Amino acid sequence: MARHLITSAIPYINGIKHLGNLVGSQLPADLFARYQRGRGNEVLFLCSTDEHGTPAELAAAKAGKPVAEYCAEMHEVQARIAEGFRLSFDHFGRSSSEQNHALTQHFAAKLAENDLIREVSETQMYSHADGRYLPDRYIEGTCPNCGFDSARGDQCDNCTKQLDPVDLINPHSTISGSTDLEMRETKHLYLRQTAMKDQLDAWIDSKKDWPVLTTSIAKKWLHDGDGLQDRGITRDLDWGVPVKKGGEDWPGMEGKVFYVWFDAPIEYIACSQEWVDAGKGADWERWWRTDKGAEDVTYTQFMGKDNVPFHTLSFPSTILGSGEPWKLVDYIKSFNYLNYDGGQFSTSRGRGVFMDQALEILPADYWRWWLLSHAPESSDSEFTWENFQQSVNKDLADVLGNFVSRITKFCRSKFGEEVPAGGAFGEKEAAVIAALTERLKAYEGFMDAIEVRKAAGELRAIWVIGNEYLQDAAPWSTFKEDPETAAAQVRFGLNLIRFYAILSAPFIPDASDAMLAAMKSDDRAWPDDVAAALNALPAGHGFAVPENLFRKITDEEREEWQERFAGVRT
Ligand code: 2FM
Ligand code: ZN
Repeated sequence: MARHLITSAIPYINGIKHLGNLVGSQLPADLFARYQRGRGNEVLFLCSTDEHGTPAELAAAKAGKPVAEYCAEMHEVQARIAEGFRLSFDHFGRSSSEQNHALTQHFAAKLAENDLIREVSETQMYSHADGRYLPDRYIEGTCPNCGFDSARGDQCDNCTKQLDPVDLINPHSTISGSTDLEMRETKHLYLRQTAMKDQLDAWIDSKKDWPVLTTSIAKKWLHDGDGLQDRGITRDLDWGVPVKKGGEDWPGMEGKVFYVWFDAPIEYIACSQEWVDAGKGADWERWWRTDKGAEDVTYTQFMGKDNVPFHTLSFPSTILGSGEPWKLVDYIKSFNYLNYDGGQFSTSRGRGVFMDQALEILPADYWRWWLLSHAPESSDSEFTWENFQQSVNKDLADVLGNFVSRITKFCRSKFGEEVPAGGAFGEKEAAVIAALTERLKAYEGFMDAIEVRKAAGELRAIWVIGNEYLQDAAPWSTFKEDPETAAAQVRFGLNLIRFYAILSAPFIPDASDAMLAAMKSDDRAWPDDVAAALNALPAGHGFAVPENLFRKITDEEREEWQERFAGVRT
């Protein structure tokens, strides 16, 4: 049994995420986790909320709440929505946990011990109008790299370059809009990533099978321009992990916290400690410590492309620099952006569909299917209502839903609510088994390689084979002259439903449960042998006709939703 550690990038706490965020990390990570569990492997699937930094402070201030209270509430909100989308995290943690505080301070102590942290006296933006130092996100200006005019102090959203606030051209405070900014002297800690360059380079070079998107971004920041820079890992904020060396005070660092991007990835590990402390698991070290059993773990991370530099350079610097035997990531699956109906999703302007709204209008499976089958893998992709309506109506309702409904209803009307006896599988069925055996191999190959769209394409093709079989065998006609053969065809069809339920579970878990419940089966064993799997439900086995698995989206709904989600969320 293989062991898979799977993490999704941890979403910021400040508000509900849109569907573009969902398809860029949590949803494909869930697909992979469900698939690996389905294959009988041992999985630890973790995600958390990313609660520190200026986004949290700003959002709490806007909501008029103390930041700790705001984060606790929003964590619950995000947790409920994640359940709604059937995201099967083994634990959904919080980066503000005690565990993460301790572990972040532990890593800082180790890095300092290994001479990988320098203390730097630097000048920092102080805003007179706001009466405070302005960290990263409180400052916006023009990107020195690409000229984008709303680059943030920590990163340019346009070209993904990691920035320091002082790099920006024409900076202004995002709190007051003031440009009355003064550079003042203050002390900060820097992680000496430059000292890690050769090690990082060799590590990334050794990853021959990574997606081009991942390695190209990593190599760009390793080699282009000024190359890898040392990074400031402390900030002047109240909310965050206090700067300490393990449990000891750090002279000169009073009142400062670690930079959110320093503690966020450490939360991947801390989350597994939270999982144990919550009584859900027995041992986190066998997932994370290569000296304690994690050497045979395969660790896969999921994230949007803007997160890649932090996961290929910064976090590995922390891990490698600690000199301790922590598990490094084996595979980084990164995604491009999902656009919305001719533009971008916009959290600030409420443009596009947000996770809570999506579930208000349709169940999770509809969204999961569309998003995963259109995942922005090789390039950005776009959500349009026409395309969504078409995929749902065709793939889910016409192909899969219709198949299930026709077979079960026909069987009930002619043979009753049990798998009919009689007849035998013949040439038609053998041809279907051969075709499905090929397709299943391809499906598994794409799922193993996390080629999400291609896997969806194979699954759809697997459903289509069932529909074509039914069309061709036409048991409703066969029944008139040859009820025995019709019985065998229906038996084959009912077994196909169970087979589809198992294979489709990673994409559409609720429909899969409904299909298995209708077939009165709780055997979810992944089919090793298609012929055997299609004989699993014997004659006489009871079943029920399920409720319609999927309904169609009408043109009126499509138009109404298009209008409703076009802009300004209140
Ligand atoms: O981009 C984001 O949404 C970040 N909150 C992702 C953090 S991932 C990791 F480092 F924890
Ligand atoms: Zn830029």
